[in-house]
Amino acid sequence: MRKEDRKAPYPWRGVLIDESRHFFGRDEIVRLIGLMHRLGYNRLHWHLSDDQGFRIALKDRPEIKRISTKRDYTLEGCPLGRRTKDETPNQGFYTESELKEIAGIAASKGIEIVPEIDMPGHMSALLAAYPRFSCGRKPFGVATTWGVFDHPLNIGDPEAVAFAKDIVDEVAAVFNCRYLHLGFDEIGRKALRSDPACQRAIKERRLHGLKGLIAAFRGEMAEHLLSHGVQPIVWDDEIEAKDERLIVQAWKPLRRGRLKKLAKQGQRLIVSPFFSSYANLPYCLVPLKKTYGFDPRKGLGEGESVLGAEVAYWSEYRSSSDKFDFEFMYRAYAVAKALWGCRDRTYLEFRASLMRAEKKDFGRELAIPLSLTDPKGFSRLKRICRYYRKSTDGEYQDYLSSKE
Ligand code: ACM
Repeated sequence: MRKEDRKAPYPWRGVLIDESRHFFGRDEIVRLIGLMHRLGYNRLHWHLSDDQGFRIALKDRPEIKRISTKRDYTLEGCPLGRRTKDETPNQGFYTESELKEIAGIAASKGIEIVPEIDMPGHMSALLAAYPRFSCGRKPFGVATTWGVFDHPLNIGDPEAVAFAKDIVDEVAAVFNCRYLHLGFDEIGRKALRSDPACQRAIKERRLHGLKGLIAAFRGEMAEHLLSHGVQPIVWDDEIEAKDERLIVQAWKPLRRGRLKKLAKQGQRLIVSPFFSSYANLPYCLVPLKKTYGFDPRKGLGEGESVLGAEVAYWSEYRSSSDKFDFEFMYRAYAVAKALWGCRDRTYLEFRASLMRAEKKDFGRELAIPLSLTDPKGFSRLKRICRYYRKSTDGEYQDYLSSKE
């Protein structure tokens, strides 16, 4: 991106990469850091823990490497229709020294690592090694399918809460980070609701039901991080009112009204609405034109509340590095322009600048046809049906055949 184009950039210009569902590995992440640098991103929000894999082999916890970093197989296919197992055990992790090396490379390019340890839901992989801290307390495996699971951390058990604090301390020490993302998205509630320790905690602490217990746990974790000089970030799922201690990341477009209220109250916000900035979704659901039109502050006022935005890549269906480029690069370019306040006046100008940027900024040529990045009418509908019923790779396969 040209320097002279840059005006009034947002302070938070982030890329979210999920390595729990698919492990990218060091070289891919270093390549990504190079791309982020060229496009002017300054935060790598690294989603290293989720139900399907915990990717940090903490050196004093061999059970994490042994249990949490691998799953028995991976689901391939599509969100709703026919899906198959790949029958291949999947393992991937970074050692502490690898992570320090990558954080050093990122820092040399002005990029800070923001590790995410998602809790108290989306935590199955880690808890598979420590089932005593889960609600059921019984052994279970690292998840092999996608979705929302009901194996949360037992937030009514003080020992489980102490365990969560130890984990975030260990992770923060590896990265020496200023920010740590605590998750708090999509918390499965059934197990928490029926757990005796949670029920007891709600009663003894006179909390407002499970919502109150979750908020109390979030506050305790936030204060713990802040007391160590680390700024906590959470997803917005559970946030009803301003909390000065937190940075809140909004991802659900349907919560716009609540978000508006939070922005008005001065809540520090990062936005990554999935219908604009989720780069893993097929173009039939998130057309490139939509991402080009993304305005982080839209409807949220002109104040300082919105720190910036992230382009997010959730990796359930990342079948190859080339497919990642096909889905991610153009969207990352569009979000970078929005974050630097240098959006092209028209979409056609944007497309032209994208073509010019390909070799220089991406380090490769993609030249994706308009019909694939912005399918219209019947063709869009057909692609949406194919996405849900047959294959998440459909658009990518069309792209490959268009190049033959
Ligand atoms: C999210 O997409 N679950 C934050």
